[in-house]
Amino acid sequence: MKEKLHRIDLQNVPNHIAIIMDGNGRWAKSKGMQRVFGHRNALTAIRETADTASELGVGYLTLYAFSTENWNRPKLEVDALMSLLVTTLKKELPEFQRKNVKINAIGNLTSLPKNAQKVLANVIDATKDNTKITLTFALSYGSREEIVNAIKNITKKVVNNEIEIEKINDKIINNHLYTFNLPDVDLMIRTSGEQRISNYLLWQMAYAELYFTDVLWPDYRKEHLYDAIIDYQNRERRFGKTSEQIETNE
Ligand code: IPE
Ligand code: IPE
Ligand code: MG
Repeated sequence: MKEKLHRIDLQNVPNHIAIIMDGNGRWAKSKGMQRVFGHRNALTAIRETADTASELGVGYLTLYAFSTENWNRPKLEVDALMSLLVTTLKKELPEFQRKNVKINAIGNLTSLPKNAQKVLANVIDATKDNTKITLTFALSYGSREEIVNAIKNITKKVVNNEIEIEKINDKIINNHLYTFNLPDVDLMIRTSGEQRISNYLLWQMAYAELYFTDVLWPDYRKEHLYDAIIDYQNRERRFGKTSEQIETNE
């Protein structure tokens, strides 16, 4: 493991990592357990990933915890996920403070149960001055819903003469997304072998490097994040330019 750490260039760590934490259900099933058992066992992976990212100097870690589409799961599972959210946030708050972690949330948060909204608001407020890493939970999050919401808000401003149509640009759209205070995603990781985006951060991932691993989320540990970052560091991010331009810093 130390060896892997030494292969990471600490000057070139992705500033924003987004993760699709997938495979909890399959992990539980493989152990002959109910799906919810997998969700309950996701916490260690979340903790270890956040700690590792923070140690490496990653500025922003954004975790997909519940999608707009996940509301269509059986009520029992949805309820279990919501109550897990509440207990986890409450339990982890002292740790977030100790580790200087700033908590943030993106998504259609008003659709969450009232108690979850309350705990979330409390944790966000309590950690707002923390500076080591921003840990964002995507909750009731869907990229399309986010974009629709942004368009509505921009349109309202156009109607009220607060924004001129001609002035609408990338930056204005960015500022109306739930992620307005986050930088673009540098590295997107999805666990469990699925190779799709599932309505996650479509706009924000325009130039992200994508990394897929077969590891199921409850098994995700430090070394797996090291692997993803080493892979990321071996890629050339060209942003539309040529390799030669990148080499000569043009
Ligand atoms: C990811 O694991 C967690 C959530 C979507 C809440 P899944 O619950 O999707 O697990 P699989 O994909 O069914 O194994
Ligand atoms: C995406 O996982 C959402 C989260 C990880 C929270 P899903 O398991 O819901 O995605 P699909 O349905 O397999 O695309
Ligand atoms: Mg899944």
